[in-house]
Amino acid sequence: MRRFCVFGNPISHSRSPDIHALFAKQYGHEISYKKQLVSLHGFARTIATEFNQGLAGANVTVPFKQQAWQQATKLTEEARVSGAVNTLIPLPAGGLLGANTDGAGLLRDIRRQGIDIAGRRVLILGAGGATRGVLKNILDANPETVWIANRTAIKAQQLGDGHANVRAVTTWQTVSGVDIVINATSASLSGKLPDVPTTVLGGAQFVYDMVYGPGRTSFLAHTAAVSEAQLSDGLGMLVGQAAESYRLWWQCELPQIVPVIEHLRHSMD
Ligand code: ATR
Repeated sequence: MRRFCVFGNPISHSRSPDIHALFAKQYGHEISYKKQLVSLHGFARTIATEFNQGLAGANVTVPFKQQAWQQATKLTEEARVSGAVNTLIPLPAGGLLGANTDGAGLLRDIRRQGIDIAGRRVLILGAGGATRGVLKNILDANPETVWIANRTAIKAQQLGDGHANVRAVTTWQTVSGVDIVINATSASLSGKLPDVPTTVLGGAQFVYDMVYGPGRTSFLAHTAAVSEAQLSDGLGMLVGQAAESYRLWWQCELPQIVPVIEHLRHSMD
């Protein structure tokens, strides 16, 4: 029996144990996957203790992804550039490999829904950790342009620095022909809406909200009222990032994602 854990604060809402149990069933793997609430100052100690006691892998969620990045002794490229780690893997010679599978999970979910980012104009709302975690994967998919709009504009500018086709939105007049909108703000969590003109949403083909929950998120409900765009919440990204973690831990093929999304969707109704 291999033992895994997700660490966060808060953690009681986490669906990761259910998702990994469903993946394990697909393969006949024997696993234990628990969620553990960690005190705000206890992350480093908890991780060290758990891995010393034979933990086979960990997921890390809010607010510890940056600390996990610091704890890791080796980083994947996605983790290095995002400054955040959501997956820890013990290395055979000691130490921890830190990975960030959020971007791969998002891109897989977007592709699954028939959307190709290559050559498209993408607008990302938000410039916090969620955007940092996925920007590399979005750029690797060869969009024509990526605009980043954020309530605090300086953070969008900083994220765009060094990327020729990334532009921070300072005025909406410079933004035109957006095909794909990705909401990476945490606004939906509190039922609020990020600032984006209805004309931008109205012209988009695909609108994605990284947040998920029972029913439509506030952002997707708003979008549906002003746009014909295909809509998606972030449940598929959640399952997708978990599948990428699973593959890293087990060195296996990617588990099947769609049946797990359907299972979770059904259980939220
Ligand atoms: P993290 O880095 O952990 O993802 P964060 O830094 O708080 O968390 O980032 C959340 C993102 O959602 C930020 O882009 C934040 O905008 P600011 O950088 O201006 O704080 C954005 N956000 C949160 N609540 C919002 C709201 N009500 N309207 C618009 N944007 C919001």
